[in-house]
Amino acid sequence: MKRSVLNILDLSVEELDQLIATANDIIANPAKYSEKCKGKKLATLFFEPSTRTRLSFEAAMYELGGNVLGFSEANSSSAAKGESVADTAKTVSCYADIIAMRHPKEGAPMVAAMNASVPVINAGDGGHNHPTQTLADLLTIYREKGSFDNLTIGLCGDLKFGRTVHSLINAMSRYTGVKFILISPEELKVPSYVKQGMKDQGIPYVQTTDLESVMPELDILYMTRVQRERFFNEEDYLRLKDSYILTPDKLKNAKSDLSILHPLPRVNEIAVAIDSDPRACYFKQVLNGKYMRMALILMLLEVQ
Ligand code: NCD
Repeated sequence: MKRSVLNILDLSVEELDQLIATANDIIANPAKYSEKCKGKKLATLFFEPSTRTRLSFEAAMYELGGNVLGFSEANSSSAAKGESVADTAKTVSCYADIIAMRHPKEGAPMVAAMNASVPVINAGDGGHNHPTQTLADLLTIYREKGSFDNLTIGLCGDLKFGRTVHSLINAMSRYTGVKFILISPEELKVPSYVKQGMKDQGIPYVQTTDLESVMPELDILYMTRVQRERFFNEEDYLRLKDSYILTPDKLKNAKSDLSILHPLPRVNEIAVAIDSDPRACYFKQVLNGKYMRMALILMLLEVQ
């Protein structure tokens, strides 16, 4: 039976623990994994721009000894001729053992999974979900904090359209003692279906527009970019794009062991001066994403 990952909740807490253990073992013993996917092919079907997600999937498969094929923009695929996602998925199933798909439409990777005969991984669908970014976030939090429990997590920026935010909230809502502080402009608050998930799990959260006033409470600060491509008009984007810019002076009252995360790409949200602060974790997060994608590919291909 093929198994796809479309939502972070498709993976149980035990499976996340297993992925983290595998990723840590890959970090410690990379040579052990260098032939694990020999003869296997990953297809990266990217209908939307990407640097990290696509290249880290590809690097992950190469580091497992496998091969990669795919496309990096809709215009270079038959989507430009009007082919459906379902037909593309059936076609690519003839060439590849596993598919990673990014698409601007919410639910497109699910349609692909329903039609593919190989596992499909959602590499970001519109403003909805981005489970493998969450895997990168989780490994980073785990390596920085040693556990997922009792953390106060501030999410800041575009919480409406930011798919990484939605997946991270879903994932972290399953741990004990977690509290969310949701920092955004009024117009970019977390959608109600994501809030419902926190309520269902009994997870406390507060919403605010003011980053500095909550800074002293945070164990994790997850900054995000305002998602220009999801706005209906450019004026709103221009008005909201620089709502939050993290500069060294704003960290004055932050905890000394705060971890600053960002899924990247960064536009203006974090001053470059923060990069040398030991609390900045966003480039570690990039590397962690590759290890977690390696672990996920092994799991879905059932490679021992
Ligand atoms: C994110 C995405 O694509 O949702 N990027 C990523 O995959 N690391 C975040 C973003 O684009 O802002």
